[in-house]
Amino acid sequence: YQLVMPRDRTVPPVVFHLIPWFGSAAAYGGDPVEFFKSCREKYGNVFTFILLGKRVTVALGPQGNDFVFGGKHTVIAAEDVYQHLTTPVFGKDVVYDVPNEVLMEQKKFVKVSLTVEKFREYVGMIEEEMTEFMKGDPAFLIWQMKDINEWGTFDAYKTLAEMTILTAARTLLGREVRESLDKGFADLYSDLDHGMTPLHWMFSDLPLPSYRKRDAAHQKISGFYQSILQKRKRQESEYEDDVMGSLMKQQYRDGRALQDHEIAHILIALLMAGQHTSSSSTSWALLHLADRPDVADALYQEQVEHFGTPDGGLRDMTYEEMRKLPILDAVIRETLRMHTPIHSIMRQVRSDITVPPTLGAPSEDNVYVVPKGHIVLASPALSQMDPKIWKDADKWDPSRWYDADGFAAQAHRQYDEDGKVDFIFSKGTGSPYLPFGAGRHRCIGEQFATLQIGVIISTFVRKIEMRLDQPFPKPDYASMMVIPLRPCQILYRRRKFD
Ligand code: HEM
Repeated sequence: YQLVMPRDRTVPPVVFHLIPWFGSAAAYGGDPVEFFKSCREKYGNVFTFILLGKRVTVALGPQGNDFVFGGKHTVIAAEDVYQHLTTPVFGKDVVYDVPNEVLMEQKKFVKVSLTVEKFREYVGMIEEEMTEFMKGDPAFLIWQMKDINEWGTFDAYKTLAEMTILTAARTLLGREVRESLDKGFADLYSDLDHGMTPLHWMFSDLPLPSYRKRDAAHQKISGFYQSILQKRKRQESEYEDDVMGSLMKQQYRDGRALQDHEIAHILIALLMAGQHTSSSSTSWALLHLADRPDVADALYQEQVEHFGTPDGGLRDMTYEEMRKLPILDAVIRETLRMHTPIHSIMRQVRSDITVPPTLGAPSEDNVYVVPKGHIVLASPALSQMDPKIWKDADKWDPSRWYDADGFAAQAHRQYDEDGKVDFIFSKGTGSPYLPFGAGRHRCIGEQFATLQIGVIISTFVRKIEMRLDQPFPKPDYASMMVIPLRPCQILYRRRKFD
C-alpha cells in the first residue's frame, strides 16, 4: 500500500547561513570535510548549502556516492559544472568542452595508449628521473655527499610536485616535452596551474593577472605541442611510442582522425589531471612513513625480500613484481583513503531528481527532490573516513588492507555497533572507498598513478631513512586539491646500503 501511495516531495533542508548570496562559502572553503560532518549531524545525509549564489545539494555515505556517480549523465552532467573552469586551461574540443559521448571516446583513446608494455618501461624511467633530481637538488646535499650519519631536510610537497611533473612528462608526454621542462616549460605550467583555483571555478574570466597568464600559458603550451606534432608528421623528429604517438594513430567512431589541437589539449588535460592528485598522494605517504618508521622499515624489508642481491644491494624493480608487494599496495591504498585528493565531486542537475528514501527522506511518506539547476555533490572523503565503516577510521594503518596471508581487503567491511562485521561492500558506484571515482567519469589514470606513486615511494625508501620532527601537517583546502599544509618538512639521512 505504501509503495503505491504518491509521496510528498520536499526540497532537501538548507544549511543555516546568515548572508544570503555568500551562504556557507567560508565554512565549506575553510574545511569542507568538517563542514560536511557537522551538517550530516544536523541534517542527515542529504542537505543543500548556498555557495556564492549556487545551490549545492550534498549526498553523503556510500549511497550518496552511488546517487552522484551512478546518476544518468543526461540528468546530472559533469560538463555543466566544470566546463568554464577547464576549457580555458585544457583548451577547446576536449573533455568538458564536448558532449559526454565524445569525452568517452577521448578517454578510450588515452586508455589504449596506457599499456602494460609502456608501464614496464616507465618503472626505470621514473626511478632515473628521481635519482637525477636528487643529484641536482640542494635539499638532498646530505644524500649527495654519501654521508650516512648526517640528517638533512626536504619540503615534502615542493619536492614531490617537482618530481611528479618530471616523471609524468618523461613517461606520458614524451621526450620532446621532458627536454623542454628545463627550458621554461615549468613556469608556463605553473601559470596554467594557477588558473585552476576555486576563484577560477566561480568566475571563468576576470580582469586579473592570473587569468591573463593562464590564457597566455595555454596558448604557448598548446602551440608547443602542436609544433611537436607537426615535426613528427614531417618525420623531422624521432619519437618514442608515447601517448602523443598513440593519439596520432587513433580515430573517432565516425572515422575522423584527431586534429592536432585536440591531441594537444588532451595532453594538457592529462598533465593537469595527474599532477596534484599524484603529488599530494606521494607527499602524504612520505609524511606518514616519516611519522611511522616501523612501516617504512617494513616497506624496506619488503624491497630486500623481493629485490635483494647476494652482495647486499637491491636490483631494479619490475612492473609485474611491484604489483605483488602487499605492504606497498597497502601504503598507497591507506594514504588514498585518508587523503583522497579530490574532496568534492560535482554534477549539474538538468531535470528534477528524486533522492532514494534509503539515502535520506523527510518522513516515511515524503521524499526529497533535488530541483533542476542545483549542483549535486558527492564526497568519498567522508565515506572513506566514516567510523561506522572503518575501524579506527582516523588512524593511518596500512595493515588494515592485508591480513597474515598477505592481500585481503578487510577494509571493505561495515561494522555494526558492537564492532562486528555487518557486510562487505561491492566495488561499484556505491562503494565507500572511491579515491578514483566511479561510473562514466571514473579515472583512467589509476594504474599509471599507482605505478608512479609506488615507484616514487619505493625509491625513497631504498635511498633514505625518514623522520618527522614536527606535528603531522594538517590538510590545506585552499586549492582544488587536499595538499599538506606547510611546513611539511621531512628529516632524512642516507640509507646505509644505498
Ligand atoms: C577522473 C582521482 C590520477 C586522468 C578522476 C576522478 C577522480 C580521480 C576522483 C573522477 C572525477 C569525477 O567523477 O568528476 C584521481 C587520483 C589520482 C588520479 C586520486 C592519483 C592519485 C590521474 C592521472 C591521470 C588522470 C595520473 C592521467 C594520466 C583522469 C581523467 C579522468 C579522471 C582523464 C576523467 C574525467 C571525466 O571523465 O570526467 N580522477 N586521479 N587521473 N582522471 Fe584521475
